[in-house]
Amino acid sequence: MALRAGTRIMPGMSASLPWYFARSAGIIAWALLSASVVWGLLLSTKAKIGTHKPRPAWMLDMHRYLGGLAVVFTVVHVLAVMADKYVHFDPISALVPFAANWHPFAVAWGIASLYLLLAVELTSLVRTKLPKGWWRKVHFATFVLFGTATVHGLSAGTDARSWLFQGVATGVVLLVAGLTGKRVLEATRPKPARPPRRPAAVLLDPAPTLPAPTPTPTPVPAARRESRVHASV
Ligand code: HEM
Repeated sequence: MALRAGTRIMPGMSASLPWYFARSAGIIAWALLSASVVWGLLLSTKAKIGTHKPRPAWMLDMHRYLGGLAVVFTVVHVLAVMADKYVHFDPISALVPFAANWHPFAVAWGIASLYLLLAVELTSLVRTKLPKGWWRKVHFATFVLFGTATVHGLSAGTDARSWLFQGVATGVVLLVAGLTGKRVLEATRPKPARPPRRPAAVLLDPAPTLPAPTPTPTPVPAARRESRVHASV
């Protein structure tokens, strides 16, 4: 039988390096995913970071970058789980929910997260080619993804029992919930009334009427002027 994570074959050397890889990549993937969700919410709520209000273009770049890195670390996480000889994950049990023998429910949350993450990332890459409504609907699935990935980490993880992981997860969940509440409030708050249109403004505050232009005397042609002079003589 293969040795369990943490069993030492030689002093200073672990029996299951892929398992450590899987755990650390899983935690990093979850942290990057959470950071990307928080960044997206800071962007949409136009919130300040401390006293500083970052540029929206920089915020968007960071949001995308964090999401992309989360995909990379999730792939590393799944490959490392499959490379580990203790739990025996083949491609089917790593990609089909409930096909695994090892904690099928806990792993199914992770598999659902993987598909949601891929859907959100791929639709964002071709965003300009999609109808705006489609992209928005898929992107809203990020909230479900954050939930499923957090439940997966807390139920499947070896470190889930540690107070540090639980404390950080609780803090991040509260932060995401708070920012989501702010976002929902802003979206449902009635918009301030538009300034009245121009004709109404004219009625309320009429501009001072200008005096009528004085007619300028039309110049008399020279020939007629002469004839008038002769007539008067
Ligand atoms: C977005 C996708 C995913 C994220 C963010 C994620 C994140 C995590 C996290 C944070 C842990 C806890 C690590 C620890 O406490 O040691 C974990 C554990 C685990 N994940 Fe995932 N995961 C994802 C997808 C998957 C998928 C698709 C599989 C399928 C094989 C999987 C299999 C596992 C297993 C077997 C563990 C237990 C590792 C341990 O005992 O620590 N995960 N994952």
